[in-house]
Amino acid sequence: MAVRLLIVVLLISLVSLTHASDPAPLQDFCVAVKDDEAKVFVNGKICKDPNMVSADDFFFPGLNMPGNTSNPLGSKVTPVNVNQLPGLNTLGISLVRIDYAPYGLNPPHTHPRGTEVIVVVEGTLYVGFVTSNPADPNMKNKLFTKTLHPGDVFVFPEGLIHFQFNVGKTNAIVFAGLSSQNPGVITIANAVFGSDPPINLDVLTKAFQVDANVIKYLQGQFWWNID
Ligand SMILES: *[C@@H]1O[C@H](CO)[C@@H](O)[C@H](O)[C@H]1NC(C)=O
Repeated sequence: MAVRLLIVVLLISLVSLTHASDPAPLQDFCVAVKDDEAKVFVNGKICKDPNMVSADDFFFPGLNMPGNTSNPLGSKVTPVNVNQLPGLNTLGISLVRIDYAPYGLNPPHTHPRGTEVIVVVEGTLYVGFVTSNPADPNMKNKLFTKTLHPGDVFVFPEGLIHFQFNVGKTNAIVFAGLSSQNPGVITIANAVFGSDPPINLDVLTKAFQVDANVIKYLQGQFWWNID
């Protein structure tokens, strides 16, 4: 009996391990109420009264408009996730448009809750991602890169650090689907060197194995968020 129970517990934990993405919906839809109208906070967003839901709750216009890339990185992400499109709540999916000026960069970042699949509509992009720390201490984190042209599709697996760099002489445009209603973004440099308050100098000096002045210099930069 105990063995049977143990097997059941193991099976349940295995099943829940394979569901690392957004949970499945328990109804047709659960249109999110606006954060400032919410009276309770749950894991996700609470549902609007289904009788009050209209087609506009599932609608977002304007993704034909380019994002403003006039910033130090020369790129701009226009997100369409549950925060912009309340009908996405509980559906486990979202998308973005990304614009790149010539030599514009979407700097190394991760989406803690989503895999991202991109399609290039315009321009030439050098893209890549790096695997997590290998089990074998003699191996290194592996980099996968590719140069993409219009029509090309590339996938960045959930949680891995990735980037896109416009290596062409023209603007570039990408649309991307993400496997979460709220995939989140951690921009590596911004999180490590631009946190508020700053991470302790000794911590970063030791972590990056450089002189404290290098860390101070990096912490003194303005870390632009393009999303
Ligand atoms: C783009 O952003 C820059 C910098 O914030 C700003 O000066 C400029 O007016 C913006 N351009 C448009 C078309 O909104």
